[in-house]
Amino acid sequence: EKGGYEHFMLKEIHEQPKAIRDTLAGRIKDGLVDLSQEISLSAEELKRFDKIHFVACGTAYHAGLIGKSVVEKLARIPVEVDVASEYRYRDPIITPSTLVVVVSQSGETADTLAALREAQKAGAQVLGITNVVGSSVAREADEVLMTWAGPEIAVASTKAYTTQLIAIYLFGLYLARILETRSESELAEATEALLKLPKQAETLLEDPSAIRRFAGDIAQHEDLFFIGRGLDHAVVMEGSLKLKEISYIHSDAYAAGELKHGTLALIEEGIPVIALATQKAVYDKMVSNIIEVKARGAHVLGLGLEGDDELGKSVDEVITIPETLPLLTPVLSVIPLQLLAYYTSTARGLNVDKPRNLAKSVTVE
Ligand code: M6R
Repeated sequence: EKGGYEHFMLKEIHEQPKAIRDTLAGRIKDGLVDLSQEISLSAEELKRFDKIHFVACGTAYHAGLIGKSVVEKLARIPVEVDVASEYRYRDPIITPSTLVVVVSQSGETADTLAALREAQKAGAQVLGITNVVGSSVAREADEVLMTWAGPEIAVASTKAYTTQLIAIYLFGLYLARILETRSESELAEATEALLKLPKQAETLLEDPSAIRRFAGDIAQHEDLFFIGRGLDHAVVMEGSLKLKEISYIHSDAYAAGELKHGTLALIEEGIPVIALATQKAVYDKMVSNIIEVKARGAHVLGLGLEGDDELGKSVDEVITIPETLPLLTPVLSVIPLQLLAYYTSTARGLNVDKPRNLAKSVTVE
């Protein structure tokens, strides 16, 4: 049942190229995203939304954070992102021109479902992004976009996250097309880049040896840091959650520019820092932040883009991901972080697929 892999998590990490391919299938026509078969809202109705709320928990919430950047950049609609367990209690401003996007692998997470119902009560339209056909989210949301990741068994979510990102890109590109906020050539370029992701993810999975080595090292520590800027910050939040969840090592994920406002005090000789530097627009700033932690003795693993010959000069070890559009990098950059969590957990001899205290689907509020 594990297809020759030692754990479901590793199997599911390796299934990502296929899961991404399946989630893209049938949704691109003549080089552009077309969701008109699945989303029943007309162009007029889509144009009426003046804000979007992403609401989800855990890993799906981290996908929502990427969703904010994607939708704001492509469709120029203001987006807020909320953890579902907080959303209802903060008296959010929901109107009939609000689109609430709930993201849930299982489609059964109690907090997410409660948020969905509350949003509908307030008159909002709800788009559900879920991986389970017939789940509560799939049944109750006004509009549904399925992720086609296939069953996810390991408690730690991997292929669900990358396919949630794909669904979000598809939605963002579709919205941008309808709203005419991006030129057709830009949309075509982004769509082409999306289609390359499965192959690029495959390449990335070929040789995990460098990550495995670093995992062996961090398995000895009790504390470490992840840093990144822009989209990389959202990705390190997911990397940090994954590591905590299955290796029981404490870590924090910081927007790298925030370090000097407090956290830098925790950086001491030998502490591992995992630094993402895949975003060109903030690359130089990110390198300065890496130098700040290096100067305090951190042992830094840098994750950058293929062809980046600079990063190696300021970090101790480098891992690269294939180049894609800056907006799409999270789909690739999260994969080494998933593998890092996996190999750290196995190096510590822990129960990777069923970490302590956790359930696959959280059906209590
Ligand atoms: O089924 P859902 O996507 O609604 O689940 C949300 C979270 O419980 C889930 O992503 C959780 O954070 C994962 N175990 C993280 O790996």
